[in-house]
Amino acid sequence: GLPERVRIYEVGARDGLQNEKATVPTEVKAEFIRRLARTGLEIIEATSFVHPKWVPQLADAEQLYPAVADLPVELPVLVPNERGLDRALALGARRVAVFASATESFAKANLNRTVDEALAMFEPVVARAKAQQVSVRGYLSMCFGDPWEGPVPIPQVVKVCRALLDMGCDELSLGDTIGVATPGHVQALLTALREAGVPVSVIGVHFHDTYGQALSNTLTALQQGVTTVDSSAGGLGGCPYAKSATGNLATEDLVWMLQGLGIRTGVDLGRLVATSVWMAAHLGRPSPSRTVRALSHQ
Ligand code: HMG
Ligand code: MG
Repeated sequence: GLPERVRIYEVGARDGLQNEKATVPTEVKAEFIRRLARTGLEIIEATSFVHPKWVPQLADAEQLYPAVADLPVELPVLVPNERGLDRALALGARRVAVFASATESFAKANLNRTVDEALAMFEPVVARAKAQQVSVRGYLSMCFGDPWEGPVPIPQVVKVCRALLDMGCDELSLGDTIGVATPGHVQALLTALREAGVPVSVIGVHFHDTYGQALSNTLTALQQGVTTVDSSAGGLGGCPYAKSATGNLATEDLVWMLQGLGIRTGVDLGRLVATSVWMAAHLGRPSPSRTVRALSHQ
């Protein structure tokens, strides 16, 4: 069966904007997040406390976070290491996310570490966050395919999921970073995770729409009991360290499907479309979301 309610984890301001060629002014990002909060979204990933040379688009995290911190929504932020955690905690962040990789190639490209070195880097981050009742999400990239290594073996993915949970992560986000997953592969991975004792309640899915499979993959995950879905307003996004990745599943496309299924999200689709049209004007190109296009005159 399908869930009655889906928790949408909005990543446009982080996963979306980190991949824009142009750096969006801090005030525009803050206004984007404020508008997203008014659509009824409850979890809006705000930014990353990473090295500014690695992701220059998010180098303004110290200015942006305080500008939105008073909104009545959850505002998780990415932190790769203790330095990032220090920066986030100094601004009062209550939700952080570490981001691991299922493959060695992407761990190297994204974190300058092996998979195990990256996990070792996260361990004190998770321990310190948990000691302060700060919740921790564990992203896992390249859960399906990797641009350098090809298809990723399921046991390899399960192993890193277990490591993230064992170190104390509260939830996981299974990333199809380059958007190559198909429903059968999603079902196989979720089955393997269930068999490895990972409760479905801690699993979120994070699909990119490179091959147009993000919604089919999402529906498959919902049928398997997943209730947390990552998406990006207007379909913004990609990943600067994974060349072939296009945008995330668009939040509008997700909400349209969920509404049709009678699944509650709390999101006002009209307001969300208006927000993505406004953002698209700032970025100088139309939203790639089919739903945004259908419901607007872009
Ligand atoms: P490194 O070069 O190995 O860093 O990078 P290091 O630990 O050797 O430190 C070098 C210098 O950086 C030091 O300064 C540190 O203080 C400084 P120095 O002593 O030389 O003056 N430094 C920092 N400064 C500010 N903030 C920090 C920080 N850390 C170290 N947090 C590092 C390692 C992890 C820092 C780097 O690789 C990095 O920042 N990577 C981030 C990459 C990234 O953000 N990628 C995108 C997010 S992942 C994603 O999009 C996928 C996802 O959406 C899911 C999916 O789709 O799959 C989540
Ligand atoms: Mg992503």
